[in-house]
Amino acid sequence: MTPATIIRVASLKDASRFKEHLRASGISLPCDPEIICGSDSPLLQKIVRNGISLANRIAVQPMEGWDGTADGNPSEATIRRWQRFGQSGAGLIWGGEAVAVCHEGRANPSQLIIAEHTKRGLAQLRQTLIHEQRNTTASDTQPLIGLQLTHSGRYCKPNLHTRNEPRIAHHHPILDRRLGLGDSYPLLTDSEIRVMIEAFHRAAVVAYELGFDFIDIKHCHGYLSHELLGAHTRGGDYGGSFENRTRFLREVMEGVRSLVPGLKVGVRLSAFDMVPFCPDPALSREGKPGPGIPETRAELIPYRWGFGVKAENPAETDLSETVRFLELVQELGIGLVNITAGSPYYTPHIQRPALYPPSDGYQPPEDPLVGVARQMEVTQMLKAHFPGLIIMGSAYSYLQEFLPNVAQAAVREAWVDLVGLGRMVLTYPEILWDATQGVPLQRKRICRTFSDCTTAPRNGLPSGCYPLDRYYKDSALAVRLSQAKGLEPRLLSTEIAGSS
Ligand SMILES: Cc1cc2nc3c(=O)[nH]c(=O)nc-3n(C[C@H](O)[C@H](O)[C@H](O)COP(=O)(O)O)c2cc1C
Ligand code: SF4
Repeated sequence: MTPATIIRVASLKDASRFKEHLRASGISLPCDPEIICGSDSPLLQKIVRNGISLANRIAVQPMEGWDGTADGNPSEATIRRWQRFGQSGAGLIWGGEAVAVCHEGRANPSQLIIAEHTKRGLAQLRQTLIHEQRNTTASDTQPLIGLQLTHSGRYCKPNLHTRNEPRIAHHHPILDRRLGLGDSYPLLTDSEIRVMIEAFHRAAVVAYELGFDFIDIKHCHGYLSHELLGAHTRGGDYGGSFENRTRFLREVMEGVRSLVPGLKVGVRLSAFDMVPFCPDPALSREGKPGPGIPETRAELIPYRWGFGVKAENPAETDLSETVRFLELVQELGIGLVNITAGSPYYTPHIQRPALYPPSDGYQPPEDPLVGVARQMEVTQMLKAHFPGLIIMGSAYSYLQEFLPNVAQAAVREAWVDLVGLGRMVLTYPEILWDATQGVPLQRKRICRTFSDCTTAPRNGLPSGCYPLDRYYKDSALAVRLSQAKGLEPRLLSTEIAGSS
């Protein structure tokens, strides 16, 4: 499959044609024909549950910008991004972006850090957001604001955009090779993991002192705590059994509960995964990667390096441990869960369905609507299984014109509690708020999933919407990005890696 063979969402003139396209393609998604405005809008209904009160069903996903200062403080570009998060009118802001609990755990040298020396900067981000949200909603109700705490594990790159400094929980037969790690590359020791857990505890205290309502103990996208969930081959306290692979979450929670009992906690979880994908070599040409195929090989079966993936066929999902994990989340008193999937590094089409691949990706192996439906269906299943949790869904941006119709139907039919917006916030933060107010859709501002916001950081540049947002489009950064895109993709992927 290539972008040329996929029917463009923008070419479907109205919701009934969109639904017809879904039906003809065998894709099952809820979609309302009309948008309900004002106080009857399903998207404007409050939620009060698990001690959490939310003004509406619109939420903003964490979206890292690769634009912090060298010491981990926000820059002017970071503040602008958070302003735009606030313009969404969302009732919940999930972390704004991944914030590293220590310098060594940064995914890039411009990632924000949470520490004493960044307190003022982080407080400013929170204030900016509250201010903008009030302007949009013309109300004093504050959004629930969290900070996504992270240690990037295998994807650490704290010092140089061009230098990976992986801290790995277990060896991985495909990902080690992609990062150039030999068999002797050291694993994190149990005591090093405990030091990282303490860093999460310290970060939780700072987040609480700054007035953030919750922290996210991030368990997604291939970063440390997600990698630990798949650490079947690891020995010691943090590998092997389900109990050991989830010890990290329990121990972070123990400290958070004793140090800051008033702080709410959420978990963003890659609910399922797949074996890493690569461009099909048979269909790749110089400078043009082929469609993605799973890198499954006979010697990798049973597959023992993932979470939420079938051991006998790692190109398929298995949710049995995902359900166990959410049972644990509930037992620990965590009321807020954000469902995502896969990783932007090795399964970008699963994690952020797009028509155009990032520079080190592959052509879409499926209609990206299939990817949207896959995440939505899993979320629906988990929501039905865990009605007491507040569950936020991900990967709606590819719905484009029909995002409001699908979002409204998903909330109305209880597929999900909160609709989380990722890439769309970079171009058109008010899309759902406007829809609920009867403001006509501004088609020129719709994210078309060009993936430049992913390609830019892979080339050491800040993330942003280069094609549609003037702040990036008209800047010197845009010139640098187009120069970088002129490079051979192979060179880009090996020399310059990184995403979130
Ligand atoms: C530029 C960019 C930065 C991102 N940063 C983060 C991050 O810091 N933490 C995280 O959990 N997910 C991150 N994501 C993933 C998004 O939160 C979201 O799951 C993904 O983009 C799919 O949602 P969408 O279809 O609405 O874009 C990022 C995605 C993009 C494109
Ligand atoms: S660069 Fe802009 S249009 Fe492209 S995926 Fe990112 S937000 Fe969407």
